[in-house]
Amino acid sequence: MDTDSDDGNLSANDKSGAMSPSKKGFPAPYQPRELPPVRRDLDGMQPIETRKCPVPGCDSSGHLGGRKDRHFLIDACPVYHNLNRKSCKDFRQDINKKTAARKKALSVLANKSPSQNPTSEQKKYHLSVQEARSTHKTTDLPVVGLEEPPEDRQMDLSIFASDWDLKLFREAQSLASEDFEDSLKGLPDTKTIKYLQLGKYEMEVWYQSPYPEDYSCLPRVFLCEFCLKYMKSATVLKRHATKCVWKHPPGDEIYRKDKISVFEICGKRYKLYCQNLCLLAKFFLDHKTLYFDVEPFLFYVMTTADTEGCHIVGYFSKEKNSFQNFNVSCILTLPCYQRQGYGRLLIDFSYLLSRVEGKIGSPEKPLSDLGLITYRAYWKDIILDYICNFPDKELSIKNFSEENGINSYDIVSTLQYLGMIKYWRGQHVILKKEDLIEEYLRKSRNRPKGRQQIYPSALRWKPYEPTAKERRHAEKIKKNQEERKKNR
Ligand code: ACO
Ligand code: ZN
Repeated sequence: MDTDSDDGNLSANDKSGAMSPSKKGFPAPYQPRELPPVRRDLDGMQPIETRKCPVPGCDSSGHLGGRKDRHFLIDACPVYHNLNRKSCKDFRQDINKKTAARKKALSVLANKSPSQNPTSEQKKYHLSVQEARSTHKTTDLPVVGLEEPPEDRQMDLSIFASDWDLKLFREAQSLASEDFEDSLKGLPDTKTIKYLQLGKYEMEVWYQSPYPEDYSCLPRVFLCEFCLKYMKSATVLKRHATKCVWKHPPGDEIYRKDKISVFEICGKRYKLYCQNLCLLAKFFLDHKTLYFDVEPFLFYVMTTADTEGCHIVGYFSKEKNSFQNFNVSCILTLPCYQRQGYGRLLIDFSYLLSRVEGKIGSPEKPLSDLGLITYRAYWKDIILDYICNFPDKELSIKNFSEENGINSYDIVSTLQYLGMIKYWRGQHVILKKEDLIEEYLRKSRNRPKGRQQIYPSALRWKPYEPTAKERRHAEKIKKNQEERKKNR
């Protein structure tokens, strides 16, 4: 059962010491907003509640929550938890009794004025809790005839905690298992993740991403939109949100203009965040293979701010030491923000960084279909803008490339694609195609006034200095590649 801090997901964040506390003092606690309606259909699949429990030897009968006759997840499986149907029912009755007693006590207390000193009854109770918490032997829970539970059963937790704590944990497990299954009902039995919930958005994923198996066998995954920790249910996310101190990505905020910020995040320093970012990106990138080896990369996350914090809209990654001068490895705008100009902003930002570095950059190939469309649209606009603004200037590809930080190969391929380059009398010439220029001018005039753009003056950034080790590593890769080229 995912109880928020029990997987490598959040705890590794804690361990890294790289947690970025809220710097901006946004109001706390954060509450996820209502989701907008999303397209949901079963696509010819069975609803998940008809799924058979995957635990070997279990016929799906009974429920850890003790109230239902059937379950479909390991999390609600009595067999997995080394219990049986009856013991689950009895345990639930105990919980109900305890809850009723607590309610009653609270209603009595509500009518009394608060006392400074604990009553003798409270003291007695306190002592009994203290005693129970020092006992490390399971006595009061029926464990069904299993001395050493097999690997596909929940391990014996009594060695880790006192009886008291264990019972509390089991109560939480029991209640959460019911809530968890209820929250999934009606979703298709996909065996892979189909939906992603991030902040106020729910998105249908495009490709599969290698999340751990117990997450990827569910139709929906929940991500904290600030720290990107993944969770199985809305309840766990809600609880996480009350504790999560992040209100923006980690790393340094290197750009801010109006609501748009960009954070530079070192893959080595914020390894877990960057790995979670790559896992998220894989949902929408077909050819992406980087998930865990994030250390040689820097990540530039673009956000848009409101009173709740800085919400991620997209990012690009960049090798710290790219000897081929790639200025973007992978680029993504989250689907809920696509076609709003953020992809162009990210691309423009990547070239701004290249210009500040005094380098000429290019995105890593191959580009995806959408990547190619977006880059071509960007390069085309930059070329036509140059032609329109400097009509008398001769367009030299070399100068243009240096001024804009765009690789000449990308400029030539765009000119070829636009039919603007011709071989004439032994040399290449660039044609000013009036129809293209007119179309560009018309589009520029019709552009909404408040269209976002990157303002170089809002950048506060010094290029990353690779460490000696990183430089040696890059040299080694370069050498290997050159040798491989020679041997071909
Ligand atoms: N259909 C047609 N044209 C499109 C589309 C589309 N789906 N998406 C972008 N464009 C073109 C348009 O010309 C658009 O201008 P317009 O809106 O004025 O017509 C222009 O690209 C810029 O669009 P943006 O809104 O700035 O781009 P967006 O924010 O949608 O992001 C991106 C583009 C990053 C490629 C996005 O589609 C995405 O994340 N796709 C999935 C991941 C991916 O394929 N990334 C690229 C991989 S290649 C690499 O990583 C180096
Ligand atoms: Zn979080």
